[in-house]
Amino acid sequence: MTKEMRVFAFDFNGPAHLSAGTWRHATDRGNEYKKLSYWIEYAKLLEEACFDGIFFADNDGYHEMYKNSVDDSLKDAAQIPTNDPSYLIPAMAAVTKHLSFGVTSSTAYDVPYKLARKFSTLDHLTDGRIGWNVVTSYTNSAARNIAGLEKAQAHDDRYARAEEFIDVAMKLWESSWEDDAVVRDVESSTYVEPSRVHNIEHQGEHFSVPGIHLCEPSPQRTPVIFQAGGSPRGVALAAQTAEAVFLNAMNKEALKKQVDNLRAKAEEFGRNPDHIATLQMITVISAATDEEAQAKYEEYLELVSYEGAMARYSSWSGIDMSQFGPDVPFKNVETNAGQTMLNFFLKMDPSKDWTPRDIAEYSGIGGTSPVIVGGPQKVADELISWIEETGASGFNLANAVKFQDIKDFTEFVVPELQKRGAMRTSFTGSTLRESLFGEGVARLPEDHPGAAYRKQLAAKA
Ligand SMILES: Cc1cc2nc3c(=O)[nH]c(=O)nc-3n(C[C@H](O)[C@H](O)[C@H](O)COP(=O)(O)O)c2cc1C
Repeated sequence: MTKEMRVFAFDFNGPAHLSAGTWRHATDRGNEYKKLSYWIEYAKLLEEACFDGIFFADNDGYHEMYKNSVDDSLKDAAQIPTNDPSYLIPAMAAVTKHLSFGVTSSTAYDVPYKLARKFSTLDHLTDGRIGWNVVTSYTNSAARNIAGLEKAQAHDDRYARAEEFIDVAMKLWESSWEDDAVVRDVESSTYVEPSRVHNIEHQGEHFSVPGIHLCEPSPQRTPVIFQAGGSPRGVALAAQTAEAVFLNAMNKEALKKQVDNLRAKAEEFGRNPDHIATLQMITVISAATDEEAQAKYEEYLELVSYEGAMARYSSWSGIDMSQFGPDVPFKNVETNAGQTMLNFFLKMDPSKDWTPRDIAEYSGIGGTSPVIVGGPQKVADELISWIEETGASGFNLANAVKFQDIKDFTEFVVPELQKRGAMRTSFTGSTLRESLFGEGVARLPEDHPGAAYRKQLAAKA
């Protein structure tokens, strides 16, 4: 029997996200990002098509690695301008019943006390359909503008802060308020029974939080924790605390390795690897037939902006791509940066003479995610094989042309996947955790480190 895949739309609260220059396509609706009516229409479309959720990437900085300037990012709307995605969630939740929402929030410049309140609020307002994507902020612009630092903190220091951050947030969510703390007893004039609300008494290297959480318990308490880092430290954090992990492998072989590695690491931390969903980032350009999809893809490629792609790619890779000639193969470049680029792309296709222009073409559509182009059968075959051959749970669907690509997917691909039993036709449970792991598991599972705080709370009761 075909395994049912999890499907999230990967989006961004701005005119353009990963793709470069395609905002100029006649059908692109990115400029509507400022309108609630746009997001409401989108939420309804996704729920009707039985998507598990929409997932919002977010940055608190901007891309300025390319030519040491933000100009090319601005010209191509390369993740700037960008509004805060959290404000969209209540509006999208109000017009849906089952669709879930992942929101990216950084641990670098926030504090757990405030973030815990934000996500408890969203969990209440969505009836438990919220997830938190933990990121550690890699841009120097965020460090400079938010914290007055010259550049982002060192990689492992960012992760050390993230580990403690998540720990404090989980203490607030799981061990401060007992389930029955809110009594709302008119006779004794008691709204909250004080003996049922506890200080978390956290004292750590980065944070001191002695007191109680500001919010009463929400349906999931801890939002579903997402993570996307691929370094050893990032994978360790995911294996320890994430419940859903975004992966961006260049092919199935690489994805299988990443999934197997994550599962093995989760076991080392005493967790059941089935309690972590793995979602591969992918871009699908679909149409009624293979030929029409291919024609659409070629139309998109014509629009790819070299400068826009390089503005993004330089920031993601940490290498200013303006030092390379667009058509000079990396193998002819002697710098360390040239070799790093060469090694990365050789893994993808060793037979190709990779140049910066190839990278622009490759990453201009859907960022560095693989791209599938085709009609219903071809795309369904391909997506199913990604799942069957790698053990991944599903996909995070990026787009090149905003709204239209996902709408095409709902029209051409979803019915085919559903026909084959590869995508759901109705929802299970009501919370995000249940959507991922089955009905009746709205709360953290027993093997999650946050469940220990739940036990501590039970012992105090
Ligand atoms: C699919 C995917 C989505 C990501 N989304 C975001 C994001 O929205 N905001 C952000 O600041 N970083 C985002 N990142 C970056 C990661 O959080 C992380 O900083 C990066 O992958 C480097 O981590 P590493 O050093 O552990 O590999 C994303 C990464 C991947 C693979």
